[in-house]
Amino acid sequence: MDDLNPFPPGFLWGTATSAYQVEGSPLADGAGQSIWHRFSHTPGLVQGGDTGDLACDHYRRHKADVALMAELGLRAYRFSVAWGRVLPQGRGRVNPRGLGFYERLVDDLLAWGIAPMVTLYHWDLPSALDDRGGWLNPDSAGWFADYAGVVFRALDDRVRLWITLNEPWVVTDGGYLTGAMAPGHRNLFETPLAAHNLLRAHGRAVAAYRALGRHEIGIAVNLEPKYPASEAPADREATARAEAYMNRQYLDPILLGRYPETLSGIFGEAWSEPPPSDLEGIARPIDFLGINYYTRAVVRADPGQLPTRASPVPQPGVLYTHMGWEVYPQGLADVLEWVSARYGRPPIYITENGAAFPDPAPEQGCVDDPLRVVYLREHLRAAHGTLGRGVDLRGYFVWSLLDNFEWAYGYSKRFGIVHVDPATQARIPKASARFYAQVIRSSGAAVFQH
Ligand code: FCB
Repeated sequence: MDDLNPFPPGFLWGTATSAYQVEGSPLADGAGQSIWHRFSHTPGLVQGGDTGDLACDHYRRHKADVALMAELGLRAYRFSVAWGRVLPQGRGRVNPRGLGFYERLVDDLLAWGIAPMVTLYHWDLPSALDDRGGWLNPDSAGWFADYAGVVFRALDDRVRLWITLNEPWVVTDGGYLTGAMAPGHRNLFETPLAAHNLLRAHGRAVAAYRALGRHEIGIAVNLEPKYPASEAPADREATARAEAYMNRQYLDPILLGRYPETLSGIFGEAWSEPPPSDLEGIARPIDFLGINYYTRAVVRADPGQLPTRASPVPQPGVLYTHMGWEVYPQGLADVLEWVSARYGRPPIYITENGAAFPDPAPEQGCVDDPLRVVYLREHLRAAHGTLGRGVDLRGYFVWSLLDNFEWAYGYSKRFGIVHVDPATQARIPKASARFYAQVIRSSGAAVFQH
């Protein structure tokens, strides 16, 4: 590392997407319905009645999208496999046409020298499995490991980086507690059960990978550092609870082999101690950790909220994104250093980082998005600052390559560095894409210019 090459050798520069958010054609070629298909087709659950039926039409346009990635000089692409394309009923019969799509995508990426990073579960559970209780069914861990095995067998000869689950915290908090995400339950009692089964599923998939795979596997968690709004004991306690619930509920079992003690207090009656043998299976060694970072929270105690919740306090005079998330690059550095110190310096990829802003309409083939450029630059500077401080950072993935289906917000929030015209599907790289291309071309040096 030096001034000309400020990031470590082999640093992976990429972008990230997920299947339901970009692919479209959710039922094509024999695919089974997912819980997000059902959720978005239930009136009133997604803003504007938007669905993933077309999304970015990536399922049909992937060749051109990969060529665009190559044009931008991207070195890696993180995407997810839709479980229901591969196993329409979630288990049992394999659908070769669904699997074939991912084989072609991987081959295209490799032909351009772009490294695939494959997420096995980015929230689109096959509906057939949801009908059997989904993540509440203890058999879900086995279903997931069997599905993972099918994908490992098909792709591990070409894919070197695997991620079991994307953001299990959002799966349970949004899917089982607040109901803002599929499958839309609101049940405090189901939440820790689903969480535990997701963790078991992760562990079982890692075990399957050790038997079948030859490369590296990890998990992607969303981390949001929590800071107390005041020194008052109630605020400090609320902060500690929020931190255990969001940042340690998954990492402690996987990397330390135990749940945070506070969880039993947070969930109260809804909590039951898992058998120690489950924790052994969950804590199987992984090869790297994926961290998704967007924002922080300043926390104030609020007895009116669910025990898992505390009130975030808006900060004066700072920039907020279109999601209402505070722009706080220092939080990324704090999280990287905290993870490295607490969990014994695992190799880390920043598997998502990026921002939604209300971009201006394209003008003469350009979209000027200066706030996103600043967001990316400041977060990359913050990440770089941790390199000399014990953080083993291996790569960075912008969320997202394309403006896409932002879950319950539909298409109203644009995260892409490439603009997508919803009517024509035309792609226009934004100024942020040009900036990122320059960062990659300069091996990161462009992060320090201006
Ligand atoms: C993350 C998700 C990703 C996207 C971004 C904005 O929580 O993993 O799919 O929605 O947020």
